[in-house]
Amino acid sequence: MWGGRFAAGPDAIMEAINASIGFDRRLAPQDIAGSRAHAAMLAATGIISDSDAEAIREGLLTILSEIEAGTFPFSTALEDIHMNVEARLKELIGEPAGRLHTARSRNDQVATDFRLWVREQIDALDEALVALMRALLAQAEAGPDWVMPGFTHLQVAQPVTWGHHMMAYVEMFGRDRGRFADARARMNECPLGAAALAGTSFPIDREMTAKALGFDRPMANSLDAVSDRDFALEFLSAASICAMHLSRLAEELVIWSTAQFRFVTLSDRFSTGSSIMPQKRNPDAAELIRAKIGRILGATVSLFVVMKGLPLAYSKDMQEDKEQVFDAADSLMLSLAAMEGMIRDLTVNREALEAAASAGFSTATDLADWLVRRLGLPFREAHHVTGALVAKAEAKGCDLPELTLEEMREVHPGITEEVYDVLGVHNSVASRTSYGGTAPEQVRAQIARWKEILG
Ligand code: ARG
Repeated sequence: MWGGRFAAGPDAIMEAINASIGFDRRLAPQDIAGSRAHAAMLAATGIISDSDAEAIREGLLTILSEIEAGTFPFSTALEDIHMNVEARLKELIGEPAGRLHTARSRNDQVATDFRLWVREQIDALDEALVALMRALLAQAEAGPDWVMPGFTHLQVAQPVTWGHHMMAYVEMFGRDRGRFADARARMNECPLGAAALAGTSFPIDREMTAKALGFDRPMANSLDAVSDRDFALEFLSAASICAMHLSRLAEELVIWSTAQFRFVTLSDRFSTGSSIMPQKRNPDAAELIRAKIGRILGATVSLFVVMKGLPLAYSKDMQEDKEQVFDAADSLMLSLAAMEGMIRDLTVNREALEAAASAGFSTATDLADWLVRRLGLPFREAHHVTGALVAKAEAKGCDLPELTLEEMREVHPGITEEVYDVLGVHNSVASRTSYGGTAPEQVRAQIARWKEILG
C-alpha cells in the first residue's frame, strides 16, 4: 500500500491491530459521497481532467452498487474503507483512480466521512424522537384528567394527572431533540481539504466540496479539522442524556406493571414469558432500555479517554472513535423504537391509578392550603395541624376524607364541612392551575402546544 518505502509487508498481528475495515465499512456511502465531491472539485479547479473525473465518478457509482448488493470484495490487508474503495477503483478504472487522492489525505477523508455519518444519525434519531413524543402525546390525550399518585422519594406525595406525567417526558425528549440539533449545527462544517494536517498547495475549492456535501462551510483551521472529534463527543453526550431519560421512563414501566402497582399492562408484543413460571409477563424490553444507558454512557467515557491528552494533529488512537459511536447510535435508535412501541401499546388501568392516588394521604397539602386560605393560619401551623389530622387518620386506619367533622374539630375547632371539598383527588388536581401545573386544563394546553410544535 505504501509504495516504495517498504521492503516487507506487515506482520499478521500488525495487520490485525491496524485494520478498521471490520467496522468502518459502515462509512462506505459517506466515503463515496466525499470522494465524488472531491473529484468534481478537482476537475472544476483544473487539478485533474474532466475525463478523469468522469471515470472516477462512474467507478465510484459502480462501487456503491457493489456495496449495496453485498458483492464488494472487502479486504483486511487494505486496512480501512478508504483504501478498500480506492483499490477497487483502481481495479475498475485503472490510472485515473490514482489521481483521486490529490490534495487529500485519509485524515481529512475520515473526519469528513464520520461527520457525515453522525449527521445522518442525528436526523434519523430526531425522527425516532418525534415518533416517541407522538406516542406519549397520544397517551396524554387519552387521560389528561386521569388521577394518579405523584411521588417524591417514591412515596405518594400529591395527586397528579396521567396526562401530566406523560407530558413530563415529552418535555424531556423535546430537549433531547434540541441537544442533537445544537450538536448538528455546530458539527456541520467540512474538514475536507485540510489534507494530512497543513492544507495543500493545490488550488482547491473548499467552499465547493463543503457545499456539495451539505455542510455550511469549510472548517477554518486544517489542524483542527483533522484532529477534532468533539462533534462525536457532543453526539455521544446528547445520546447519553437521551438514554438516561429513556432509562427513567423504562424504570417507571417496570414498576407500574408489577402486581403491586397494576397501573399499566404492557402489550403481548412487548412482553416476554418465563420458561418455568407460566403466569409471568416480563417487561424485558423496558429492562433492556433501562440498561442501554450503560453502554451509551460507556461509549461517551471511552471516547473522552481516547481523546484526552492527544497532541495535534492526527494520531491513530482516533481510529478508536468509530465503534463506540456506532454502538451508541444503534443502541439509542433501537431503544427509542422499542419505547415508542411500548408506549403506543400500553393499556392504562385508570381505576388502579385513581385508587393509588387517594391512598397515602396524598391530599394532605390541599388540607394544609385550605387551613391557610379559609382559617388564615400561617402555613407552618397549618402544616402542623394537618400532620396531627394525618396521625389521627392513621391511628383510625382510614384516609383523610373518612375522618368525621367532629374528629377534625378535635384537632382544630375552626374546621368546617367545606373542608371535604379539597380532600378529593379530583378537586386536588383541578386546583393546581398554576402555569405548568397538573390541572387538566393546564395539561390540555400543553398537549395543544406540543401538537402544534410537532405538526
Ligand atoms: N482508518 C483511519 C481512522 O479511522 C483512517 C485515517 C488513517 N490515517 C492515517 N494517517 N493513518 O482513523
